[in-house]
Amino acid sequence: MSTDLPARRHTAPPYDTTPGHADRPARRPEPATPPIAFLGTGRMGGPMAANLARAGFDVRVWNRTADRAAPLIATGAVVAPTPADAVRGAGILITMLTDGPATDQAATGPDGFLAAAPGMVWVQMGTIGADWTARLARTAARSGVTFVDAPVSGSEGPARAGQLVVLASGPERRRTQLAPVFAALAKATVWLGPAGNGTNAKLVLNNWLVDLAETTAETLSFARRLGLDPGAIVDLLQSTPLGSPYAMQKAATMLTGDFTPAFALRDALKDAELAVQAAQASGTELALTQALLPRWRHAAERHADDDLAAVYTTA
Ligand SMILES: NC(=O)c1ccc[n+]([C@@H]2O[C@H](COP(=O)([O-])OP(=O)(O)OC[C@H]3O[C@@H](n4cnc5c(N)ncnc54)[C@H](OP(=O)(O)O)[C@@H]3O)[C@@H](O)[C@H]2O)c1
Repeated sequence: MSTDLPARRHTAPPYDTTPGHADRPARRPEPATPPIAFLGTGRMGGPMAANLARAGFDVRVWNRTADRAAPLIATGAVVAPTPADAVRGAGILITMLTDGPATDQAATGPDGFLAAAPGMVWVQMGTIGADWTARLARTAARSGVTFVDAPVSGSEGPARAGQLVVLASGPERRRTQLAPVFAALAKATVWLGPAGNGTNAKLVLNNWLVDLAETTAETLSFARRLGLDPGAIVDLLQSTPLGSPYAMQKAATMLTGDFTPAFALRDALKDAELAVQAAQASGTELALTQALLPRWRHAAERHADDDLAAVYTTA
């Protein structure tokens, strides 16, 4: 993955931290659900942890940048100073960190969580790719921790609304225990078989997403260069089956030029690179995705923390 991008920018929490938010009244979860440790309270993890706390779960959060976790106190969550502190006494751990190295660091680094809670269930929900998923599943097994690979489909809006889709894979005997947890985060959970399948499905979906975003940027740019009004082309596409809702949403963002991130270009680029790697490992080639990588890396030099719609600036 790209290593020479500028340092990340952080913004205020985009989610409601009010306990018992009107859209989602506080309720008691299943009595059998143990405390939940939640690591990574970023754009996705913050609202997800807030939804769990508001649903009545006992939630302990940790975030590398403590300021970014502090607003969750208002939802009833407890902020822990280290990953190990967050998991002590917890039965379920959710990780929602940027990538494999960050997740590995939280697991096995100083004050890592793996040594602190043998016997817990670790639900890995970040998009970390196939190799890191396999590696961390092996590390978990060696520590007596059950590993569930469960990335999510849906961006910041669905995360806030508890309307994600969970792509779950791993030991199905955990299905009943995790059902109320996933229900607080998502409108649907799909169980896909052994751990690794969730991540592979996520890479397939995000490969579709980055290709759609790229063709949307190219189409608007192509229209503009032919002297057409790109907005009129969007209207035209919308009036036909060609205009997929996601592409039309991104087209609107591209034309307004407001790149407030829902899904940061940095992370979309990471996922495109992970998809290309997974394809290569399986003996296939993602020609479209491979072709967009150089320009997306170029766009990320200035727009890493902006929405991926910012690829329009280089199309
Ligand atoms: N945004 C989306 O639309 C979307 C949708 C589905 C899945 N995802 C995936 O969900 C994951 C989180 O994405 P996000 O949008 O929430 O990103 P984000 O807002 O950038 O949050 C990233 C999180 O990872 C932490 N982190 C990064 N590097 C770290 C390190 N070296 N050590 C410890 N913690 C580290 C950050 O901590 P700090 O606050 O200290 O930086 C933050 O908690 C990613 O894998 C992403 O691909 C995103």
